[in-house]
Amino acid sequence: MTQKPKPLHSIKVDGPIPAHLARSVIEETLRAAILDGRLPCGTAVRQQDLADLFGVSRMPVREALRQLEAQGLLSVVAHKGAVVAPLIQGDATETYELRILLETEALRQSIPLLTESDHQRAAGYIEELETEHNYTEMGRLNRLFHMALYCKASNGRLLRLVEDGLNEEERFLRFNLEAMGLGKLSQDDHRALLQAVKERDVEHALHLLEQHLNRGVEVITRYLASTSGQTRKANR
Ligand code: NI
Repeated sequence: MTQKPKPLHSIKVDGPIPAHLARSVIEETLRAAILDGRLPCGTAVRQQDLADLFGVSRMPVREALRQLEAQGLLSVVAHKGAVVAPLIQGDATETYELRILLETEALRQSIPLLTESDHQRAAGYIEELETEHNYTEMGRLNRLFHMALYCKASNGRLLRLVEDGLNEEERFLRFNLEAMGLGKLSQDDHRALLQAVKERDVEHALHLLEQHLNRGVEVITRYLASTSGQTRKANR
């Protein structure tokens, strides 16, 4: 390989960015590029390159990178700086199991406080998912659906952890749907879950959520088993 690909070139910046929006514009732009695969795993994202690209100082770039790191989309590697994180980390199964604990607790806190309009919002995302075929968009809608159910959790810190986990999953889900065709299955889960939430049947809802998220653990386990051979070959 003589030519190095320059994935940052796939990012388009329209005009100057107002200073007060810089961090969020950079964060959202990079997030989208990581989620839709324009910035592949292992791509180094250098602060100065990004500052030049967006025409801003390094300060908002650094803040945006920190956010993306908290969401598991970037990881910091010694001597290399921030790189796009692997799609699935070695400890992905453990991460997922931890998410089940956090999300069921958030749901438990939230159910009694959810209003009719929260239920309608969640139902709206299920409807949108029904006709959406773009995997990136489906990942986003899945996150919004889940957050709509957890949004009234009283522990704000728990809710932020849950959201970071969902952001991390969003990227995996895109691939997951593509590779495993889990779309329809997830929708049945989502409908049953929303029904239990509406009925304020906390125990049943927690059980359904756990089952739903456990399917993710199974898919990851199967994926890791099926690709470990291929990855070794590619790294040779
Ligand atoms: Ni889901």
